[in-house]
Formats: sequence, C-alpha cells, structure tokens
Amino acid sequence: MSPAAYEIRVAMAEGAYSVVISPGLLDDAGAWLKQVCGSTRVAIMTDSNVAPLWLDKLRQHLQAAGIESMAAVLPAGEDHKTLSDLLPVYDTLLRGRMDRNAPVIGLGGGVVTDMAGFVAATILRGVPLVQVPTTLLAMVDASVGGKTGVNHPVGKNLIGAFHQPAVVLIDPRALGSLPIDHIRGGLAECIKHDIIRDAEGFSELEQHIGKALARDEHYLAGLIAHNVAIKARVVESDPFERGERAHLNFGHTFGHAIESVSRYQYSHGQSVGLGMIAASRAAEALGMFDKKARLRIEALIVAAGLPSRMTLDVDAVVDAMAFDKKVSRSKVRFVLPDRIGHVVVRDDVPPHVVRAAVQSLK
Ligand SMILES: NC(=O)c1ccc[n+]([C@@H]2O[C@H](COP(=O)([O-])OP(=O)(O)OC[C@H]3O[C@@H](n4cnc5c(N)ncnc54)[C@H](O)[C@@H]3O)[C@@H](O)[C@H]2O)c1
Ligand SMILES: [Zn+2]
Repeated sequence: MSPAAYEIRVAMAEGAYSVVISPGLLDDAGAWLKQVCGSTRVAIMTDSNVAPLWLDKLRQHLQAAGIESMAAVLPAGEDHKTLSDLLPVYDTLLRGRMDRNAPVIGLGGGVVTDMAGFVAATILRGVPLVQVPTTLLAMVDASVGGKTGVNHPVGKNLIGAFHQPAVVLIDPRALGSLPIDHIRGGLAECIKHDIIRDAEGFSELEQHIGKALARDEHYLAGLIAHNVAIKARVVESDPFERGERAHLNFGHTFGHAIESVSRYQYSHGQSVGLGMIAASRAAEALGMFDKKARLRIEALIVAAGLPSRMTLDVDAVVDAMAFDKKVSRSKVRFVLPDRIGHVVVRDDVPPHVVRAAVQSLK
C-alpha cells in the first residue's frame, strides 16, 4: 500500500476517522479497507452512471485484497434520492446476508454518498460506512460531516440520520470521467469554503483555478485536501448544526431560492455561485464589505465557468427565500462576508437590500 498524499483526521464525539486523498488511491482501496474495517465482506452502493465506469475496477481491487463484495446499483439522479429507491437496496443487502461488521461503501456523487450513509445508519441498526466520492462536490462537501438521507416530496433531505464514516477514500482520478459542469459546480463549494474561512486559499485558487478545470490530478488532490480540512474544522466545532455550521450556508439562502424557482434548471453549483454574488452585494450595500473584495469574488466565480447573471423572476426568488428551511424564528438569516476569509450571520438584512441584491443578478 503506497502512502497517501494527504490524510486529514476528522475528530467527532463518536470517534475520529481519516479522509485519505491520493491520485490512484482506488487501486489501494482493499488495503485501506482491511486496515480500517478488518472485514472481508463489503456491500457497495453506486448509481447507473458510475457503475459502468468505476464499479468493476473497485471490485477487482477489493478482490485482489481478498475482500468479497456485493453491489446495489441505484438509478442515477436526484429524482431517485427517495426512500422507495432504497427498498430494493435493503433487499439486496439483507438477502445477500449482510452482517454487522461488513461496511457499506458509497461509490458515487453526493446522491449516492447520502443514500449509502442512510443505509449504513439504518440497516441492522447501523453498520460501518466507507465513502468513496466520485464528484468534486461529494469529495469536498457531501462525504464529510456525517449528514445522510433522502428527499421527500415536501422537501430535500428531510429523512435522514447523522452517521459518520469509518474512512473516506478520495481518488482525484475518478474526476477524469466527470462532466465538466460538475467540476464547475464543485468549485462553487470550494470558493465558498475560502470565502468563509481562508483568504490565502482564496488567493491560491484565483491563481490556479485553471489547473482544477484541466483536472490536474496533483493540483486537485491538494485542493480537495484543503477543502476537506476546512469543512472538517467547521463540522467538528458544531456537529449537530446548532451554530457555526451555518457558515457553510454562505450563498445558499439566495442559492436555494434560485435553484428551486428555476426548477433545477440552474444546478446547485450555479445557484450557489449566483447566491454568493448576491450575498456579497448585499454585504457591500450594508457597508460591511468592500467593493474590491466583492469584485474578486465575482471574478473567481466567473473564472470557474459559473454564471454571474440569471433570467429568473426577481419576486419569485425573493418569495422563495422566505420558505428556505434555514429560517430562524420567521426571520431569514443571511451569512455575509465582512472580509474574504470571514463571515457573520445576520438576521436583520432589510427586505429592500435583499431584493436589490437579487435584482442585480438580472
Ligand atoms: N451530506 C451532506 O453534507 C451534503 C452536502 C452537500 C450536498 N449533498 C447532497 O449531494 C447531492 C449532490 O451531489 P452531486 O452533485 O455529487 O450529484 P450526483 O450524485 O447526482 O452526481 C452528479 C452526476 O454525476 C454522475 N457521476 C458521479 N461521479 C461520476 C464520475 N466520476 N464520472 C462520471 N459521472 C459521475 C452521477 O451519476 C450524476 O449523474 C445532493 O443530493 C445534495 O443534497 C449532501
Ligand atoms: Zn451546497
């Protein structure tokens, strides 16, 4: 087993685990699994897009290490992130004589890692979870923090559990097959992490974002490690989302409204990019954020290939914000930057400032 390029420890009350990142890491997945879980049987969950690309490769590497695997393939896409899509998975795993020591492996994007996490949390009242994220978003965001779950017609991610992984294995080579728009979408969350926590990381990304878009695997490994470390530190300080974790919602109050009014025509990453622009403009209008910094944010979002303008109805977006689930005591809370690398939570943003920020995106 070759040493990993990066290993980030995440310390949670339930215990600590590693996020391991290295180009080519999938080839060593068997050795890592043996070291962490010691089990010779695993259940892999993946989706119909990832299966033909990565499932057989992973199974072969596991087999070479003496690990037997069964696999459940979900139909790809957010529309299939439902409880009913999980029923056949429970069937496959239980009929396949899943046992309590056998980990569930989530091989895929955030939809798969959220669903695999939920199965691991619930099957046999909980089994170990191993995340093998294959989208940039799942690598830097969804697979770290222990939030798992599925959607309900009433809203997204309303059924779920907190369940921390035993290990997260990240191979940036998996991004080689990911459509470029999903790379851009993942970069929106990377930009977000630097705006809320790391001015130096922001400058680095300004200089090197082209390498991420060109999928330079060594650059990506470092970028992913940097972002996992930021998300891990935030989540460690607030495991159940009572305070500081709200900072991860920067750009998301505006973003969720844009995503939902567009009926998901704007992807999550595109919506968050627009949301970060709107939030930065609102912060500037409140006199708490300077114009130069705001322009740097906009330029980086554009450099990532994300839109800086939208065509949606302004009133519809403003109305949708009131229904965002992160509403506290009927006041909409906004995470706003006061400098690059630092944000504050405000629930006193006047409606005309909110509206003007949305209007400015037209
Ligand atoms: N748990 C959390 O903390 C958390 C955080 C952020 C987002 N999420 C969840 O993540 C989900 C979004 O994740 P996503 O953007 O990764 O979406 P996704 O899982 O739908 O993946 C995007 C698309 O890429 C395909 N794909 C995945 N890996 C690939 C690869 N290597 N090559 C080619 N195609 C590949 C998928 O099949 C899918 O079509 C949402 O459901 C969201 O709720 C969870
Ligand atoms: Zn997001």
